[in-house]
Amino acid sequence: MTATLTEIREAILPPSGDVLLRFLRDAYYGQQGEDTAGAYPEETALKARELGLIGQGDKRHTLTNQGYIVGNVAKEYCNWVDHGRTMPTPRPPTSMFEGKDVLDLGCSFGRWLWEFQRSANSVVGLELQPEYVELGSALARCEGIEPPVIHNSGVENLNKFIEPNSIDFVFSRLVFNHVDIQATLPKVADVMRKGGILWVQVETFPSAFRRIFEGELRFRSRVLGAFALLNSLGVTIANRQMTLPVKGRMHASHRVAYPTLGWWRRSLRKLGVENFKVEANANGNAAFSARKIS
Ligand SMILES: C[S@@+](CC[C@H](N)C(=O)[O-])C[C@H]1O[C@@H](n2cnc3c(N)ncnc32)[C@H](O)[C@@H]1O
Repeated sequence: MTATLTEIREAILPPSGDVLLRFLRDAYYGQQGEDTAGAYPEETALKARELGLIGQGDKRHTLTNQGYIVGNVAKEYCNWVDHGRTMPTPRPPTSMFEGKDVLDLGCSFGRWLWEFQRSANSVVGLELQPEYVELGSALARCEGIEPPVIHNSGVENLNKFIEPNSIDFVFSRLVFNHVDIQATLPKVADVMRKGGILWVQVETFPSAFRRIFEGELRFRSRVLGAFALLNSLGVTIANRQMTLPVKGRMHASHRVAYPTLGWWRRSLRKLGVENFKVEANANGNAAFSARKIS
């Protein structure tokens, strides 16, 4: 039986929620098996099974589809806790968001909003995956934090939730490669106040090659890798991004693209977002900032 999200939310709260989250994190990493089963109290696995997050019989150490989604959040949350509850580098300096109105695009369960809201004037997020939004409010409670407002929507619809000229700092980390970039960028520029800053972390063109030549050898991974390379070329050269209808565990379509940093600079300049500055760039993973001038 699969539990409702409300039941899962209750199960991850203190006092025993922490153990369940760590159990799910390990299961996500494929570290649950006969060898590690003893690492957790027996009732933790029972609880995970009762909630429909791990399977039965042969699949008793494997996450179900629902378990995979919850496991993803558990992994990110536990890693954040273990990392001292701070964002790893590259990260924007506090001066970019202190006292500002902040928007996080693709904010997952909202942990960066938790950090921003300590010093920002206001924070708001957009996230596609409804489970992340739901679980985020329970995890905020675990942290004793007021849950920030997170709209459950694709960033492509951000204009439906955020007023034009209302945001000083737009943040987006490891999201833009997966969205309809051309539909979203003008909307980002619209919601920014003049003088506002955009800070984005993305994978760049070298990642497209890595997807094909590194990692899993499975046929499906290779095909998706080839698609990503074509799409990255299409966006960089001709501003054309394709969408592949693929039924995955979470999203029903696949439009991944890794345009070059030069493409990002040119595209933002056309929207009046200039002063493009590469904040970090290594191994096909870059962070950049830019300011809305007009
Ligand atoms: C790699 S995770 C990064 C999450 C978070 N920004 C972080 O730094 O940990 C990508 C996130 O983007 C979300 N996402 C993917 N496509 C999206 C879209 N079109 N609109 C909004 N969120 C999206 C995913 O559900 C996921 O939470």
